Amino acid sequence: MKIIMLGAPGAGKGTQAKQIADKYKIPHISTGDIFRANIKNNTELGQKAKQYMDQGLLVPDELTCDLVMDRIKQDDCKNGFILDGFPRTIPQAEALDAALDKINEKMDYAINVDVPDENIVNRMGGRRCCLNCGATYHVVTIPTKVEGICDRCGSPVVLRDDDKPETVQKRLTVYHDQTQPLIDYYEKQSILKTVDGTKSMEAVFDDITAILGA
Ligand code: AP5
Ligand code: ZN
Repeated sequence: MKIIMLGAPGAGKGTQAKQIADKYKIPHISTGDIFRANIKNNTELGQKAKQYMDQGLLVPDELTCDLVMDRIKQDDCKNGFILDGFPRTIPQAEALDAALDKINEKMDYAINVDVPDENIVNRMGGRRCCLNCGATYHVVTIPTKVEGICDRCGSPVVLRDDDKPETVQKRLTVYHDQTQPLIDYYEKQSILKTVDGTKSMEAVFDDITAILGA
């Protein structure tokens, strides 16, 4: 099964994508996580990506597309994958379709996690991410058992650099300008499924699995 997660920053794409990947035993490919790992390791890609991410802007398509195309060719993607944070522009979506077309494949679902802007700012301000394993929490809705410490691995959990309120506003503007048009794009391909992302994490997951099947 090949799935795309669509939605505004902070809509809960990553939270759901990790659980879907576990349930359906497919790799979770998050471009945001790939960029953050490169920033942590201070690679050339990380240094380039950071300049854009810290401003709430998209990393240029030419740095992003090849990365994803190489990743989905790997052996563990043979039975499908879930893309989280990609595609984010029409050119990225076209590049993905073209790459899959060459091997007679196509995406099966684009799941749009719908959350209004006013809910997003609260979610991002409360989000805490583990520096080590990438687990995501929220100070109110999904707190860690011990404040500031990851339940899974015991490392510190912190506010992401791009979750400051002014950067969140910029990311929302970029989302509406550049990513929202993908909703129409996948509607036209008849693979778009929209779920109400304001429900609890468990309820959103149930709605998504009802769409994807057992
Ligand atoms: P990326 O990491 O993809 O960020 P994003 O799309 O902005 O999404 P987020 O990770 O912020 O949110 P999410 O929807 O995954 O929400 P989450 O599950 O964490 O990208 C970061 C940057 O990298 C971009 O700005 C860009 O610069 C660059 N980039 C990445 N991909 C790119 C691409 N393809 N092209 C160009 N540039 C690219 O949830 C949010 C919070 O809410 C958490 O605290 C969570 O615990 C909580 N929560 C989740 N679900 C619920 C719920 N149902 N109820 C209550 N709380 C919930
Ligand atoms: Zn951790």
